[in-house]
Amino acid sequence: MQGLDRRTVIVTGAASGIGAATARRLLAEGASVTAVDLAAPQLDGDDRLLGLAADITDAEAVGAVVAAAVERFGRLDGVVHAAGVAGGGPVHLLDDAEWARVIGINLTGTFVVARAAIARMLEQEPIDGERGSIVTLASIEGLEGTAGGSAYNASKGGVVLLTKNLAIDYGRQGIRVNAICPGFIDTPMLAGVFGSEGMEGVAAHLTEEHKLRRRGAPEEIAAVAAFLVSADASFVTGAAIPVDGGYTAGRDHGVTELMGL
Ligand SMILES: NC(=O)c1ccc[n+]([C@@H]2O[C@H](COP(=O)([O-])OP(=O)(O)OC[C@H]3O[C@@H](n4cnc5c(N)ncnc54)[C@H](O)[C@@H]3O)[C@@H](O)[C@H]2O)c1
Repeated sequence: MQGLDRRTVIVTGAASGIGAATARRLLAEGASVTAVDLAAPQLDGDDRLLGLAADITDAEAVGAVVAAAVERFGRLDGVVHAAGVAGGGPVHLLDDAEWARVIGINLTGTFVVARAAIARMLEQEPIDGERGSIVTLASIEGLEGTAGGSAYNASKGGVVLLTKNLAIDYGRQGIRVNAICPGFIDTPMLAGVFGSEGMEGVAAHLTEEHKLRRRGAPEEIAAVAAFLVSADASFVTGAAIPVDGGYTAGRDHGVTELMGL
């Protein structure tokens, strides 16, 4: 992908799943990567990899991550913010602490990370008209409702609109901001959700909702994240891009089978 070998990128949630796959893909494309998670991610990398421990809800810690990335690599061209948590439940069963945890990490955390990154990007001179590119991780569950989703869907719906607003506010300054809305992706997060008692049938049903009739791999999200950071995506901003095997394309209701497809 164009330009990645000259770009320096922070990847959050880089110890697991989508974040880890994205850090690996960016390193393979020649980017310099600051990989961040609650414990410093253990990834294979050379002097283009900086691993740091930080809680992304802690504004001071996030500011220190941005400062360390810039000190090490000289600039901040991109952020892929993949740190996040599952959670929620029907609201009459949801206590205040769980609501606050999910909204705090997924939505407020995205605000905290974007604010720190944008403050730095505004200080640096544009290269080829661009000061930086930020990629948020929303979800198909930020585009439509899911049974029992509540706090999670509210957090991801918030991420979608926060992303669009950031794109509006900072486009003039050469900062692009886009959200990826993955379908169900096989990561430790999803294994945790599908591992709960009685979820086998639900897992099969959710898998079937993807029109490709399978769940996604973290590398399939990483590919789109790397594209969005790269110069190939120079005219893409303010988008919430489903990468979902057709999950949100529409309902099937078994009609394709009736048609012999
Ligand atoms: N897996 C899916 O099906 C799926 C679908 C749609 C969206 N997403 C979103 O993609 C993102 C990545 O999900 P994943 O499936 O790779 O999950 P994951 O659990 O495999 O990885 C998430 C990482 O985020 C880190 N993290 C959590 N809270 C943090 C905090 N406060 N500070 C720093 N790091 C923190 C965790 O330690 C973990 O390593 C999340 O935002 C998730 O909501 C996932």
